[in-house]
Amino acid sequence: MNLDNIPRVSLTHLPTPLDEAPRLAAKLGLRRLLIKRDDCTTLAGGGNKARKLEYLMADALAKDCDVVLTDGGPQSNHARMTAGAARKVGIDRCMLFLGGPRFDRFYGNLLLDVVMGAEIRFMEDATVKQMEDAMADEAAALKRRGSRPYVIPIGGSTPLGALGYVQGMRELAGQLCDEDKAPLIVVAAGSAGTFAGCALGARLFLPGAEVLGISVAAKSKTLREIAAADANGSASLIGVDTRFDADDLNVNDEYYGERYGVPSEAGNRAILMAAQTEALILDPVYTGKAMSGLIGLAQAGQVDVDRTVVFIHTGGAPGLMAFEDQFRNLAKFQTVEPRGR
Ligand SMILES: Cc1ncc(COP(=O)(O)O)c(C=O)c1O
Repeated sequence: MNLDNIPRVSLTHLPTPLDEAPRLAAKLGLRRLLIKRDDCTTLAGGGNKARKLEYLMADALAKDCDVVLTDGGPQSNHARMTAGAARKVGIDRCMLFLGGPRFDRFYGNLLLDVVMGAEIRFMEDATVKQMEDAMADEAAALKRRGSRPYVIPIGGSTPLGALGYVQGMRELAGQLCDEDKAPLIVVAAGSAGTFAGCALGARLFLPGAEVLGISVAAKSKTLREIAAADANGSASLIGVDTRFDADDLNVNDEYYGERYGVPSEAGNRAILMAAQTEALILDPVYTGKAMSGLIGLAQAGQVDVDRTVVFIHTGGAPGLMAFEDQFRNLAKFQTVEPRGR
């Protein structure tokens, strides 16, 4: 295996912490719940994309690129972290193609994009295909003008990006004691590169583990097919002779609610439970829904309560700041007149 020979640039401090969550575990009836704190990667507000971007940015540097392009929704954590990664490796231009609902305020991730000086191309309600076509057109135009663009597909979910989580599983294996070495690993699955990397990494470094993706966007079959292709591509890159079929992978698609990006009631309840037991800050688009999956499955008796569970906290807190409307009615708030006024 040549994982260590693939060029990688350091964008954060690793390993991320692995925290006990005893109060949340007790609520769910689990013997042991550990939280892999990938929300604590130090790049531009943190999150899972730091691991992927370590490989993707090394590739951009090797190709001497001078502008990075990527896409996502207006509250994309991936876009925000790509803007940060480009700055950190000294690539001064980052263009973000953001498709989704019209917005009238620059808040949450968008505000961080702005302060990092990213160039935003807003495409109202565009599909991923339309955004990726627009990026390809822009990249071609940039090349004609003598620039060297580096295009990162949505979520950074390519075989190269997914290596971040192959390496992440090796890191996790080193943190688990012997009695925890066959955990259930629960992770949000959006563009599925994180899940793909976890599946391959677990097969290589934690062979007793089971990886469960909780879909935040698409049907299980679609995500399993995408993830199998990414995991197989990653395995080839590191010279490992193993293959995944979609049927080898486990993705639950019962917790994404109405659709991607729209908060779910169960996700919001999960956010409150995690915040009020462990001070864990989740978000309505990814980690809240993933946690609602773990909670729902545990409450339905579908999780082996004696098996250690590792929840990968993939970040997203800046996105929570764009969803004030979901929680403001819970504020324990009153106005107090200052004495002597
Ligand atoms: C906070 C957070 N969690 C999870 C994910 C899902 O990762 P992936 O797109 O690799 O499935 C994302 C993707 O943007 C994210 O921002």
